[in-house]
Amino acid sequence: MRHLMSPLDFSTKELDDLFDLATDIKNNPEKYAHACDGKIMATCFYEPSTRTRLSFESAMTRLGGNVIGFSDANSSSAAKGESVSDTIRVISCYADICAMRHPKEGAPMVAATKSLIPVINAGDGGHQHPTQTLTDLMTIRSMKGSLSGFTIGLCGDLKFGRTVHSLINALVRYENIHFIFISPEELKVPDYITEMLDEKNISYEEVISLDEAMPKLDLLYMTRVQKERFFNEEDYIRLKGFYILTKEKLEFAKPDMLILHPLPRVNEISVEVDNDERAAYFEQAQYGVYVRMALILTLLKWAK
Ligand code: CP
Repeated sequence: MRHLMSPLDFSTKELDDLFDLATDIKNNPEKYAHACDGKIMATCFYEPSTRTRLSFESAMTRLGGNVIGFSDANSSSAAKGESVSDTIRVISCYADICAMRHPKEGAPMVAATKSLIPVINAGDGGHQHPTQTLTDLMTIRSMKGSLSGFTIGLCGDLKFGRTVHSLINALVRYENIHFIFISPEELKVPDYITEMLDEKNISYEEVISLDEAMPKLDLLYMTRVQKERFFNEEDYIRLKGFYILTKEKLEFAKPDMLILHPLPRVNEISVEVDNDERAAYFEQAQYGVYVRMALILTLLKWAK
């Protein structure tokens, strides 16, 4: 039995197989409509979510399975003091696979050590968000035809954005990737990430100006400033409008640059950009369903 805690839990070969399966699911959904008949997924969300929880629930439903779970820690026995370890032992009696989101870094990992069923990390604090990364990689591979040879700009809250940390970790395994980290000083990518890039000899630059970076980018990954991770409301208010992607800013971008965003968006991409051909964030959300369908099938197969 295997769990998914980090995108690095899958080899690049296993990721390729996963994306091939997700592509087949996209093209032939009827083939998979009963693939999980009789199976149950538990979605245990101790932190708010729209995309991750509902795309998992949509994925399991489209595979013919059923879903149980909670979307708020206060409606679970966590509110009475139950530990994650005890909760997952009990969920193991009710479901065949579990997706867990938790505000504490490492909580899904703790659950995995006690679980009798595969556990998927659906986001743990500011740490990792592996299924968003699978979604991002699947979107890039499908829309750009490859995962190698790109200059990738990551813009916004690179300090607290777990999707950013997971995506960088995953992309370093592909060839000829150059990162441009675009953030204010206070929201720079953590040192452990730049140290890892230095060790692996991966090229990157850290800049403040989105305008200067824009013409070089093959992909622009925008992120929201993570209000829920700030200790100080004033800092959040000061930084939340630092980058706003507008039509005017895109005049300097390559004509085939892909604009990605894990969503939710607050104000960092102007809605007028949604009509730009390069805006791919809603397609990205759609790819999230196919890749989660493929993940559920793969982890259940390995658990047999
Ligand atoms: N991208 C993402 O994780 O969105 P949700 O918080 O809505 O799940």
